[in-house]
Amino acid sequence: MIILKSPQEVEIMARAGEIVADVLKSLRGAVTAGTTTKELEHFADERIRALGGKSAFKGYRGYPSSICTSINEVVVHGIPSSRRLKEGDIISIDIGVYYDGFFGDAAYTFPVGKVDSGTSTLLRVTEEALFLGIDMAVEGNRLHDVSHAIQEHVEKNGFSVVRTFVGHGIGRQLHEEPQVPNFGAAGQGPRLRQGMTLAIEPMVNAGTFDVKVLEDGWTAVTQDGKRSAHFEHTVVVMPNAARILTNLS
Ligand code: MF3
Ligand code: CO
Repeated sequence: MIILKSPQEVEIMARAGEIVADVLKSLRGAVTAGTTTKELEHFADERIRALGGKSAFKGYRGYPSSICTSINEVVVHGIPSSRRLKEGDIISIDIGVYYDGFFGDAAYTFPVGKVDSGTSTLLRVTEEALFLGIDMAVEGNRLHDVSHAIQEHVEKNGFSVVRTFVGHGIGRQLHEEPQVPNFGAAGQGPRLRQGMTLAIEPMVNAGTFDVKVLEDGWTAVTQDGKRSAHFEHTVVVMPNAARILTNLS
C-alpha cells in the first residue's frame, strides 16, 4: 500500500529533508584530498544531531555507520573507513535522517578536486537524470514515467542504469512502497497522487550495470570496476510539479 501524507506530515518531512540537505551541503566543502571517509561520517553525525535529527542508517538491518560513503567503483553502501580521498576520486555520500517520526533521504556524488572529463560527464548525466525523473513525478502520471525518463537520459549518453537497487517510497519508514526503479516503460506502474513521498535515486555506471556485493555484506561495487554515480532526492508528488524536500540550494 502506498501511504499518502497530509500537508502537515509533509511539513515534518520537509524539516527532515532540510537537515539532510544541510548536512550534504556542509560535507561538500569537507570533501577534499587527504580526508578520510570516517572523518566525513563524524562530521555528518555531529551536524545531524546538532540540527535535532538522528541518522536513519545506523543500525538499519545492521548497517554499521551513520552515512554511506561510496568511492569510485563503489555503487552504494560504502562504509566509512580510514581510507583517504585522493585528487581525481569521486565520492557518493548518502544520508538519511529521522526527525519527529519521519525520514528524509538524499545522496550526491562529489568530485575530489579535478576529475577527468568522462567522470564529470557521468556526474552531470546522473544528476540530470534525477531531475528529469523528478519532473515526471506529478499527479496523474504513472510511476514508471519517472523510471523511463531516467533510463532514457542515462542510456542516450552511453551509461547504464543499475538494476539491483531502486528508489522507494519514504515517510514514517525509511523504505515504504512503492519501489521506484530507474528503468521501465512509460505509462506503467501505479498512478501518482498528491501526497505520495518518494526517494528517487538513480545509480548510474560508466560501464555495464552489473554490480556485486563485497565480503562485508554491504559495499556494492561495479562488476567491471568502472565508476558509478548516485544522486537522490526525497520529493512529494504535487499537481503541477513535485516538491523537492531535500533541496541543496
Ligand atoms: N539511500 C539508501 C536507501 O534508500 C541508503 C540505505 S543505506 C542503509 O536504501 F544503510 F540504510 F541501508
Ligand atoms: Co534511498
